[in-house]
Amino acid sequence: MKKLIAPSILSADFSKLGEEIHAVEKAGADLIHIDIMDGHFVPNLTIGTPVVKSIRKITKLPLDCHLMIEYPERFIEAFKEAGADWISVHAETCDLAKVLPAIKKLGCKAGAVINPNTTVETLYPFCKLADYILIMTVHPGFGGQKKVDGSTEKIAELKKYLKEHHLHIPIQVDGGVKVENIAEFAHAGAEIFVSGSGIFHTKDYVATIAQMKSYI
Ligand code: DX5
Ligand code: ZN
Repeated sequence: MKKLIAPSILSADFSKLGEEIHAVEKAGADLIHIDIMDGHFVPNLTIGTPVVKSIRKITKLPLDCHLMIEYPERFIEAFKEAGADWISVHAETCDLAKVLPAIKKLGCKAGAVINPNTTVETLYPFCKLADYILIMTVHPGFGGQKKVDGSTEKIAELKKYLKEHHLHIPIQVDGGVKVENIAEFAHAGAEIFVSGSGIFHTKDYVATIAQMKSYI
C-alpha cells in the first residue's frame, strides 16, 4: 500500500482552518485527520459534525474522522452524512464486532483503534473486520505530546501478527509523529502517519511533508 501522510487539524490554526487545510493539501497531504473528542472518553472537547461538513466543502481529500467519544455507534451515521470517508472507533468505547461492520455498511472505511494501555491482542479478534488499525502512540486527548515508550514495539508486534495471518490491513500511527521519528514508525510497519504538531507547528508544510515522505 502507498504510505499516507494524514495531517491532524487539531494543531492547525482554527481561525483560518480552510487556509490551513488548503496549505497541507498543496503540500502533499493524503488524508485530513479530524479528532473528535467528547470530554468523557478523553479529557478534552474538540469539534463535531458541523465542522466536518464545512471541511467537506473545501477539500477533495478523504476525511479521516477519529472518534474519541463514548457510544460512537450513535454518531457514525451523522459523521458519514457530514462527509467522513474514514471513521475510526476505539476498542475501549464499543463492541468492534458490531460497530466496524456498521461503519462499512455506510460506505466508509472502518478503523479499529487502541490506546497505549490496551494490548494489541485485544484487537486480534476484530482485525478482519477493519480496513485499517490505528495504534495510539500517545494517551488521546491532546496534540503535541511525546510518544509513549513501547509504542514502536507495539506496531511491530501487530505487524508480525498481521503478516503471520496473511492479513493486508494497513497500520495507522497517531501521536507524537514528527520528521525526526517517522522512519522508526515506518520501519516497525506503520503505513499511515497522522501528525498534528509535527506538521502544523512547523513553518514550511511543503518541506515538512516532503521530508516525512522521504523517510517512509
Ligand atoms: C490525540 C489525537 C491526535 C493528535 C496528534 O488524541 O488523536 O490525532 O492530534 O497530535 P500530535 O501529532 O501533535 O501528537
Ligand atoms: Zn487522532
